[in-house]
Amino acid sequence: MAYELIQSDCISWLRQCAPNTFHAVITDPPFALKEFEDAELEKRANGKGGVWRIPPSFDGHQRAPSPRFTILSREEIQELKTFFFHFAQALLPALVPGAHLFIAASTQLSYLVFNALDAAGFERRGEIVRLVRTLRGGDRPKNAEAEFPLVCVTPRSCWEPWGLFRKPLEGRVQDNLRCWKTGGLRRLSEGTPFLDVIPSERTPARERAIAAHPSLKPQSFLRQLAYAALPLGEGTILDPFCGSGSTLAACEALGYDSVGLERRADYVQMAQEAIPKLAALVVPAFPPPSACVPAEGEIAQLAFLLEQRETYK
Ligand SMILES: C[S@@+](CC[C@H](N)C(=O)[O-])C[C@H]1O[C@@H](n2cnc3c(N)ncnc32)[C@H](O)[C@@H]1O
Repeated sequence: MAYELIQSDCISWLRQCAPNTFHAVITDPPFALKEFEDAELEKRANGKGGVWRIPPSFDGHQRAPSPRFTILSREEIQELKTFFFHFAQALLPALVPGAHLFIAASTQLSYLVFNALDAAGFERRGEIVRLVRTLRGGDRPKNAEAEFPLVCVTPRSCWEPWGLFRKPLEGRVQDNLRCWKTGGLRRLSEGTPFLDVIPSERTPARERAIAAHPSLKPQSFLRQLAYAALPLGEGTILDPFCGSGSTLAACEALGYDSVGLERRADYVQMAQEAIPKLAALVVPAFPPPSACVPAEGEIAQLAFLLEQRETYK
């Protein structure tokens, strides 16, 4: 199969999907729901704001628009909870027991998404910290910057939360692994388990040049998740909000089968063109050194983390 792209609303599609079809999910959903609607994308393109905040340039850097989750009303937050609950309810039967779900979130809205998954029957297994230094947040009060030079309204974002969930097992982990090939995560090597802090990067320009999606995630990060998601290296990975297909490209690069669902025709078209190109990229951060050198991998990761911490000071 390799990969399959389907233009559809994911909830409707999942409600008709055969039970026990997928072995893992890696996805980056629309956190505020409306940011990928035509009207909002048009405002973004015209630099007119809406849910897409056009941040002022910072220290000589032009910052890309990012969705402004703090302006959601109580009703919109309620809609968001309902949407993710229905999504999780539709998704659960489509997964085999023990399938893992990696789901991107924002620090402001992650609790809503994660609670909805829990309420629908997923087990919460932890959280992945994607260490990424963005230019998001950290601004002084708008139009009063000079008056309050030592104030920032929100923290400067240095990480992105990814919820880690699992469909309940059938029996013990070992039983589930034998029967469904799922239930655990793939180690980087015998001596190195999968780590829940992943030093990452902003999506490189060469990837953005291939896929001009506003929320494109980097291959270096997605390939690590895809590798971890199938504990025995067997099965099919689903991305129900696949945008320009970066998850499918990561799966393709690792030789895994995958399926992507995307509501917008323009992004499906973008994904069709982008996946082979993104998959063909040689990405320095993956495979990690630990895949070849047991035990040293963890040391390399920690060294990287310490180096990053120095940068954040
Ligand atoms: C945050 S983006 C994902 C981008 C992706 N990470 C990438 O690298 O290209 C979320 C995507 O979900 C799509 N989407 C929104 N609601 C959807 C729905 N109900 N079903 C399927 N796709 C949907 C949006 O059009 C958008 O492309």
